[in-house]
Amino acid sequence: MAQINRIGVLTSGGDAPGMNAALRAVVRSAIYRGLKAYGIYQGYNGLVDGDIKELQSNDVSNTIQRGGTILGTARSKEFKTENGRKKAYQQLKDHEIDALVVIGGDGTFTGAGIFSKEFDIPVVGIPGTIDNDLYGTDHTIGFDIALNTVVQSVDRIKDTASSHGRLFFIEVMGRNAGFIAIMAGIATGAESIIIPERQVPANKLREHLQETYERKKTSGIVIVAEGDESGGAFKLAEKVNKEADEEYDIKVTVLGHVQRGGTPSGFDRYLASLLGAEAVDALLDNLRSIMIGYANNEIHHVSFNKTIKMHRKVDERMLEVADMQNY
Ligand code: F6P
Repeated sequence: MAQINRIGVLTSGGDAPGMNAALRAVVRSAIYRGLKAYGIYQGYNGLVDGDIKELQSNDVSNTIQRGGTILGTARSKEFKTENGRKKAYQQLKDHEIDALVVIGGDGTFTGAGIFSKEFDIPVVGIPGTIDNDLYGTDHTIGFDIALNTVVQSVDRIKDTASSHGRLFFIEVMGRNAGFIAIMAGIATGAESIIIPERQVPANKLREHLQETYERKKTSGIVIVAEGDESGGAFKLAEKVNKEADEEYDIKVTVLGHVQRGGTPSGFDRYLASLLGAEAVDALLDNLRSIMIGYANNEIHHVSFNKTIKMHRKVDERMLEVADMQNY
């Protein structure tokens, strides 16, 4: 295998707090190991277009606490094409970059896996997404703070909900997975949690809410993951009201991109630092096409194939815990 002297690093897909901490860890660990680090801007678009710059240690100073990604990110259409990937490979050759670290979610790893195979380039992935839906890691970078942002927001809404005796439907992120919804729902004592992994028909939800009113609850919170089958919180609220003659006065709040911003938590930063260092060492150990995960307090190497194919889903026990605490 060719020797690795220069490592390129990029962030791709939806940004997540802690991506900068991961970038910093990759850059500094690479320099520590005597390598050169190259930042690739705007995700795979920057790789295709050659938006690439060598990063020194001080280029990542004072970034560990910053949300977003200083490299910028994108969901690149061009990199999905063979021609785009050819251009990307040429850029790597022109910059004499021998290996890549990609920070992102399953879309990022899908692209990385294809690219690595096509051009025989070693690529290692770091899980950075607020969704926490990657197989092979208990936590993704950014999830912890996103969860806390949601919990804080729901707590605030609960203040006004209980003052007015109102029912709120709160939509949270998570297109394909309900981790934010289920964990925030449990942590805030929501009356109901609607996630893509478990369909709850509108009539059943209505019945459940009716029961809670009969138990003298005067206000309520329903957390709805955006990927829910009903089409989100607004649509679900409409459907619930169609289920009976009497309309509930449902207020809907969509938390949206607020969930993606903010300073990463201590855990997110620690995790990012750990995984960033490991990504560099894994490349030096000639590993490739793997995601660096963290499960049961240990680092894990999980093949891109596995992490892409086997989506991590909310498990039955979490659902049961949520249900148990609504009685
Ligand atoms: O994957 C992270 C995520 O925030 C999802 O939870 C959400 O569905 C999606 O990105 C939104 O992406 P965008 O900002 O591109 O609309």
